[in-house]
Amino acid sequence: MPKNTLTITDNRTGKLYEIPIENETIRATDLRQVKVKESDFGMMSYDPAFLNTASCKSSITYIDGDKGILEYRGYPIEQLAENCTFLEVAYLLLNGELPTKNEYEDWVQSVTQHTMIHENIKKFMDGYHHDAHPMGMLLGTVGALSTFYSDARNIQDTNSRKLQIIRLIAKMPTLAAFAYRHSVGFPYIYPNNDLNYSENFLNMLFGNTVKHIKHPTLAKALDVLFILHADHEQNCSTSAMRSIGSSQTDPFSSTSGAIAALYGPLHGGANESVLKMLEEIGTINNVPSFVKQVKEGKGEKKLMGFGHRVYKNYDPRAKIIKRLAEHVFDITGRNPLLDIALELERIALEDEYFIKRKLYPNVDFYSGLIYQAMGFPTSMFTVLFAIGRTPGWLSQWQELLSDSEQKIARPRQIYVGKTTREFVPFTKRN
Ligand code: ACO
Repeated sequence: MPKNTLTITDNRTGKLYEIPIENETIRATDLRQVKVKESDFGMMSYDPAFLNTASCKSSITYIDGDKGILEYRGYPIEQLAENCTFLEVAYLLLNGELPTKNEYEDWVQSVTQHTMIHENIKKFMDGYHHDAHPMGMLLGTVGALSTFYSDARNIQDTNSRKLQIIRLIAKMPTLAAFAYRHSVGFPYIYPNNDLNYSENFLNMLFGNTVKHIKHPTLAKALDVLFILHADHEQNCSTSAMRSIGSSQTDPFSSTSGAIAALYGPLHGGANESVLKMLEEIGTINNVPSFVKQVKEGKGEKKLMGFGHRVYKNYDPRAKIIKRLAEHVFDITGRNPLLDIALELERIALEDEYFIKRKLYPNVDFYSGLIYQAMGFPTSMFTVLFAIGRTPGWLSQWQELLSDSEQKIARPRQIYVGKTTREFVPFTKRN
């Protein structure tokens, strides 16, 4: 009978260690027994960027990157995108099950009641420079919300936790819309509780300015985009959320930190970069030379919206978004950059460089084209991602708090600096 253990031989000492395997994983702390001398610290594993280290057990999102599978609580993303609203999916992520009709109605009602923000938050918005990036405004104001809800610090109180979660999911679109209106110098539009989540958001953003925005297909498309972004297991921003949350910070501050992590161009900022890249390419004829530059750049220049740490196949979200784009363009008119994107995808998917490295379009490759056609400036793209990801961050945060194995996050390091030396005064420094 084979044993579910791993035997390690330390060739420095000849000693053998038998380490238990659970879920195809060994515990890094089990390596600490591997020592040459009793006084040694013990063996560590070195894993910059967490390429092969699980930081938690989670029952929220499942990804099979080789097969291109994404599931929330066991439900395939394709089925959720086809049949659910964003708030239904948010409930699923947070509670583990799809809501009954009554649960859903109560949940929608609670979220809708909390869409308003304190008038003083508006003053924060007004304080930002006219060309402030809306993502910067969002992360600042979400962080500031922690000062408005001091009860949010009671993170062990499940009722308080639930209330903060509702507040965050409800207020995120309001803050995002206010950030946008500030950046264009338009008066803010207050939430309208007669509208659904995405309709209300579109109204707060574009009410009185963009004519086609009331079309139900656009609100539905935005809802689907939010669903597709709602969670993605231990990505950079979720890890930031968990890491900050592990010190028992309130959820507004932790979410603000997660937004900061999402802001970067290698994470949520990629859809903004995709649009810039497509504009830079300019015409279909320039696609082959651009691909050549990417290949010759050897990592210096990247094909934005391609590649993923986990997916080594077509990102299932990108497939849904590509189809969704057609419905949106029927109303808004076709985004001329789409043809460049399609050609780029076609050439890249046939090219040895991308095939060998398993680089496929990710969620960001087509989403920006839809956002742009709907009238969003590129600076708002990552903000939309943040709204969609909020239930995921909060679900992961809740799971963290109820996991008895979790402690304050504190990675180890391998110190490679100077050994102890004497202080040198100014007069003796060269
Ligand atoms: N274009 C060209 N080459 C690429 C790309 C790309 N987009 N992505 C990776 N590569 C190459 C790398 O240069 C590397 O080549 P090498 O083996 O010759 O050195 C190889 O593919 C492996 O890439 P890594 O950088 O090691 O992959 P990693 O898992 O660290 O990075 C990431 C994943 C950050 C997403 C990367 O693919 C990338 O930068 N893509 C572009 C940005 C992007 O679209 N980000 C959005 C990700 S999805 C999200 O956050 C929602």
